[in-house]
Amino acid sequence: METFTHKVPWRRWVAGAAVALLAAVGGFTASAAPSYAQDGRYEAEQPPAACDGTVDTNHSGYSGTGFCNTPNTLGAAVAFTFNAPQAGTATIEIGYANGGSDTRPADVQVNGSTVRSAVGFANTGAWNAWSANTVTVPVNAGANTVRVVATTASGLVNVDYLDVSTGGGPAEGSRRMEDLDRGVVAVRNGSNVLVSWRLLGLDPTGIGFNVYRSTGGGTEVKLNASPLTGGTNYLDRAANLSQSNQYRVAPVVGGVEQQRSPGFTLTANHADEPAVRIPLRNGGPINFTWVGDLDGDGDYDYVVDRQTSPQKIEAYADDGTFLWEVNMGPNSTDQNNIEGGSATIDVGHNDGVTVYDFDGDGRSEVAVRIANGVTFGNGVRFNHANNTEQFIAILDGRTGALRDSAKVPTDYLADGPMYARFAACHLDGEKASLVAFMKNRIGNGGFNLMITAWDFDGTNVDMQWKWLRGNGNHPDGHNSRCIDVDGNGTDEFAEIGFVLNGDGTLKYSLGSQGIIHGDRFHIADMDPSRPGLEGYGVQQDNPSGLREYYYDAATGRMIWKHTLSGTADVGRGMAGDIDPRHPGMEVWSFDGLYNAPTNRLTEPDTSLRPYPQMGLWWDGDITMELFNSGKIEKWDPSNPTPTNSAPRLEQTTGYGGVLGPRSQPTLLADVFGDWREEVVLPNSSYNQLIIFTTDRPSDIRLYTLAHNPGYRNDMTVKGYMQSHHVDYFLGAGMSTPPRPDITY
Ligand code: GCU
Ligand code: CA
Repeated sequence: METFTHKVPWRRWVAGAAVALLAAVGGFTASAAPSYAQDGRYEAEQPPAACDGTVDTNHSGYSGTGFCNTPNTLGAAVAFTFNAPQAGTATIEIGYANGGSDTRPADVQVNGSTVRSAVGFANTGAWNAWSANTVTVPVNAGANTVRVVATTASGLVNVDYLDVSTGGGPAEGSRRMEDLDRGVVAVRNGSNVLVSWRLLGLDPTGIGFNVYRSTGGGTEVKLNASPLTGGTNYLDRAANLSQSNQYRVAPVVGGVEQQRSPGFTLTANHADEPAVRIPLRNGGPINFTWVGDLDGDGDYDYVVDRQTSPQKIEAYADDGTFLWEVNMGPNSTDQNNIEGGSATIDVGHNDGVTVYDFDGDGRSEVAVRIANGVTFGNGVRFNHANNTEQFIAILDGRTGALRDSAKVPTDYLADGPMYARFAACHLDGEKASLVAFMKNRIGNGGFNLMITAWDFDGTNVDMQWKWLRGNGNHPDGHNSRCIDVDGNGTDEFAEIGFVLNGDGTLKYSLGSQGIIHGDRFHIADMDPSRPGLEGYGVQQDNPSGLREYYYDAATGRMIWKHTLSGTADVGRGMAGDIDPRHPGMEVWSFDGLYNAPTNRLTEPDTSLRPYPQMGLWWDGDITMELFNSGKIEKWDPSNPTPTNSAPRLEQTTGYGGVLGPRSQPTLLADVFGDWREEVVLPNSSYNQLIIFTTDRPSDIRLYTLAHNPGYRNDMTVKGYMQSHHVDYFLGAGMSTPPRPDITY
């Protein structure tokens, strides 16, 4: 008989804990519910922890009376048990030292299931230098056992303790987002190195950062004198570039330095270029890249298509390690862009693929529209007797294996397979759903349009609702957006000419206001002085002469329209703050640059406007730069120039990047580093992703765009690629964006 007393005091009285205490009064065996407290520190050397090794004391600086040293073998483990007052998440900090030569990865298991794979326990410099890794894990109500298990033959690091903080989530009403790490990146700019990292959506205000550099594998040195509280980037002017340099950052909260981030290494004599190159296998042309944290380590991994026949999808870890391939099979060989095969992906304005953590387990899944003959990442073939019927498939991001599939409704099956555009949306304001926009053609005439929403709970994928356009006057376009247009916390699904509520009912349509099909539209906070979000769209051959329009995104009420004589196919339209002299965003197509809120030309000569392609933030100021035919440009309002003579900051094709259809990149999003955006191009051999990332410092501090609900949804959409937008006003004169209502 043994009773456990734990040095951490009771913090919270809950029914379960009280029962455990009563049991303790009576005494109980080690197998009964023990009476330890739920939150606080659990030493590795002391029950209820279980060390599959020896408790050592030979390296000073540990907490408690020793630390756990396990054999250097794969599977070496230490386990901790604690109580949680309710099901949800717990934040656990694992204290450790690693004086070995490499990062030692370990899985974190909760109650037998791996919830974080291969968490890197980085080198701490010496066995008596202690650090900690913090992860958020799902927990059950009651007792939970966390095991930290070595995934390589190097074994585990020396483990000192587990600090537990339970009851942290998921907060009611908050949307579940990704538990990203700092996303440290470093690129050369001449003899300097720009190091940049993420501010996270829920970081405490006033958080500072220290930046560390280890040159040639040597001891880390802190580069900054006092914690950095401005932009989350640092210009290192003193690096020895003939050696490798690893950079890490450590947050400083309330004057206390926290755990250092995983490192980013700039190799010795690295090319002087604003880019990170991710090696790929050889393969065919790539149209699209998606990012998601496939393995749960806090970094974005990459999924690409291969435009071969049959088509393929490949996944790579963030360092370029090949993970898996899916072969889309014989039904992907018909790549007609209007009536392609039942398993064809990524032609025309279609995709049929996206990447997101749909079940909220901390790892992204890959959603794909499949049909007979698709072979998954684990080699299993999907067999179905009918080649036209299609299925929504959720693949495991780590293996490419099928988790579950569900049949696409057959309403329009008689007209053949349907191509698809996918989006991830938080339709209930908390959990993510997959929304599938699907169309096919009736003979040589009109189109059927069906929009469906799908829930994946970790086991099953199920349809939540189906919306059929029928003969309704609800114009669609070439890409979709998912954003909370009315600010009620739940996302709506928007097309160029209509918006669906999160429950699949029609919210409004612009068809009755004279809007028809067009190629581009945007929804953003274009006018910060007016509540809510605004929309801007362009028109293709509208018989009324309508070229472009601006509307209230919550209601669809028109604010202004530009109508000219004759008709025109206005194939491009852009929105972003590129002229700080006028509050709010500019919008432009081919008829001049307008300040959206005032509906005034900012430059009277309508030929002196940039090309309406895509925007991105790059140079460190608050106005938007542009990505146009591979060039990163900045339109200068004080010296306005036409397309092709805008001041150029970079030419991405000069570094070997190639553009896809419609001069588009494979992805333009905030992939890593600070809030500024990356643009992802393949090289011409298609065996490398070149991720262009800024090399210019900025003193502007904004939380990562990937933690902004509207922007992160946008990152999951393709179609005719357009700029993503945050759901607050980002531009000159902006106020600090509100803390996002998210949990991770
Ligand atoms: C050294 C060190 C141990 C450590 C071991 C390891 O022997 O003294 O504390 O556990 O290396 O590589 O794991
Ligand atoms: Ca970035």
